[in-house]
Amino acid sequence: MKRVEAEIARRMQSPVGMIPEISDHLVGAGGKRLRPLIAIAAAGLCDYRGDGHIKLAAAVEFIHNATLLHDDVVDGSDLRRGRRAANLIWGNQATVLVGDFLFARSFNLMVEAGSLDALDVLSRAASVIAEGEVRQLAAAGDMALTEADYLTIIEAKTAELFAAAAEAPAILAGADDSRRGALAFYGRSLGLAFQLVDDALDYGGDTAALGKSVGDDFREGKITMPVAVALRGASDEERAFWSRVMADKDQTEEDFAKALDLVRRRRGVEATLDAARARATAAADALDVFAPSPLRDAMQGLAEFVVSRAS
Ligand code: IPE
Ligand code: IPE
Ligand code: MG
Ligand code: MG
Repeated sequence: MKRVEAEIARRMQSPVGMIPEISDHLVGAGGKRLRPLIAIAAAGLCDYRGDGHIKLAAAVEFIHNATLLHDDVVDGSDLRRGRRAANLIWGNQATVLVGDFLFARSFNLMVEAGSLDALDVLSRAASVIAEGEVRQLAAAGDMALTEADYLTIIEAKTAELFAAAAEAPAILAGADDSRRGALAFYGRSLGLAFQLVDDALDYGGDTAALGKSVGDDFREGKITMPVAVALRGASDEERAFWSRVMADKDQTEEDFAKALDLVRRRRGVEATLDAARARATAAADALDVFAPSPLRDAMQGLAEFVVSRAS
């Protein structure tokens, strides 16, 4: 991971000053580095002996950081990784363009890793993420959104990159189909669990611990699993409330507290966390095709971390 950090720091440089400035604001604020960690671990599990996995891991984090810059513009967010969001400091235009730079840089890195098949998986993931974000945008305030629709969205916007982060290094290592498939499934399941927990935390987490503002999904009228669950059991009066705040986006100061109460009453956060735990267990089980090792244990432990995290 030290080598990955060095590669990231080196490759976000540019003679155009605003690019390293905005990149460093985001990259230097930390972040969990989950996706590159998964890529490095997957390479290790497949006994990979080259250097290409460092490039792939950096590429994956670049794609992720590009989507964060774009996402905070789209979502109008003001806090990211405990810092003021870039869009608030430099504006939407600069933020989008620097996101484009990081995104393009990720493609340089993927090509340098030297596997067309790995490039295929990662570049496909990049377009699927965008599809997920657009699908979600189109679904904003849609009261007819089902849990299945929601899962389709998060599989695209989040799980696809986790899957690619785990699968691409396996390709580089020449792993057989069963191991490659197991890693892709691990990443996809872990990614789903991760986003489910993230969406639960938006109704039950802590802004300071998360480093981003709790309640953003509500304010945007984004129907996520906790609300989808609350809607499923809603009375006519509750449905009218959700319709006003989510579909009409007509919200007052007290409405978030009311939403929290309704989500709590319908056990929306618990149901979301249950769904996350099921995915995390499936992720851990998928790695049983590999022989037991400390690395396999660590990757299975990561699945537990994802569902127990508060930040
Ligand atoms: C945030 O991802 C975006 C989601 C998919 C919810 P992370 O929570 O992995 O972000 P960082 O990299 O740790 O900041
Ligand atoms: C983050 O999604 C961006 C992608 C997954 C592409 P969200 O909008 O759900 O996550 P946060 O809450 O801003 O991190
Ligand atoms: Mg967002
Ligand atoms: Mg978003």
